[in-house]
Amino acid sequence: EAIEKGGYEHFMLKEINEQPRSIRDTMRGRLLVEEGVIKMAGIWDHQEKFLNAKRIIIVACGTSYHAGLVGEYMIEDFARIPVEVEYASEFRYRNPIIKKGDVVIAISQSGETADTLAALKLAKEKGAFIFGINNVVGSSIARMTDAGAYTHAGPEIGVASTKAFTAQLTILALIAMKLGKHNGELSTEKFHYLTRELDHIPELVEKILQNCEGVIDRIAEKYKDNKNAIYLGRGYNYPSALEGALKLKEISYIHAEGYPAAEMKHGPIALLDENMPVIVIATKKGYYEKVVSNVQEIKSRSAKVIAIVNEGDEQVTALADDFVVIPETAEEFSPILAAIPLQLFSYWVAVKLNKNVDQPRNLAKSVTVE
Ligand code: G6P
Repeated sequence: EAIEKGGYEHFMLKEINEQPRSIRDTMRGRLLVEEGVIKMAGIWDHQEKFLNAKRIIIVACGTSYHAGLVGEYMIEDFARIPVEVEYASEFRYRNPIIKKGDVVIAISQSGETADTLAALKLAKEKGAFIFGINNVVGSSIARMTDAGAYTHAGPEIGVASTKAFTAQLTILALIAMKLGKHNGELSTEKFHYLTRELDHIPELVEKILQNCEGVIDRIAEKYKDNKNAIYLGRGYNYPSALEGALKLKEISYIHAEGYPAAEMKHGPIALLDENMPVIVIATKKGYYEKVVSNVQEIKSRSAKVIAIVNEGDEQVTALADDFVVIPETAEEFSPILAAIPLQLFSYWVAVKLNKNVDQPRNLAKSVTVE
């Protein structure tokens, strides 16, 4: 096992550190920047299904559901196709409306999650075209779908998903860009800009891993004994807030909630006092000024702010109690970069609390029962 962990103390830390490679592997042969092409046979071979789709429904559970939310934003933004994202378990039990011509995408690291499988089965029975985004070759979902695209994150052992999540975001970016290019909704200029930005992501992830671990270790030490935490983000980073909170809950057993930053005033703000750390994703693009005013609101209630900011940030940095600096990228891809410090923070908190990081209590890597 020590050999499998490649010198890391836990699989989770190894997998966090593998992300420059797993993201690169997921893009390999698909993102051809020079040629200005995205190659994905699973989409290309069925392009009429996607391009004629009145709507796309994404079904998933857990972390994969959070990837789906980012996918919704990207597909709607780039391709202007309406997207709904549902927890697979809710979808299957609520007599959903599925029409011929709908495309249902299941996102699943394992490809074995019972609820996701059952949701797909239902969608298939109702005549939808079903597409899988999986990490495990030959998994049940991969076998039952009409087409699909594998994430090439490699085996993920840690129960809390890390590298599979960023690989899912990468695949969803490629799909959204490809659809937008082919249906003409994404301008050539923006398409090229996005291909270049996506191509740089592995390098930027590498940079975050090199620069942030010490800072995050220190922040984790400072906040590890708090019993609660709130995660806030807007736009593309609202799902990042949900995923950050899930990571903390899963492995450190600290109660955490993710919220869209602007929703804070409709409830969570009542929780704020000096014992409440608020982790705010405050990257430059995407409603930065709005996030600054959210941070001001938090500080005026004496709560602590841990901010994830971009290089050169001044406003949020000046207000925050602690901050982690990450490089800037296209707003649409910022959740990939924001995921890294959020994963590391939950990892270090859990380690400092002596929790079983790779196999947290009550959780399973793949939930094959209802
Ligand atoms: C379990 C795991 C989570 C995972 C979820 C969905 O709850 O502990 O990490 O996100 O299942 O798994 P899937 O394999 O379908 O992505």
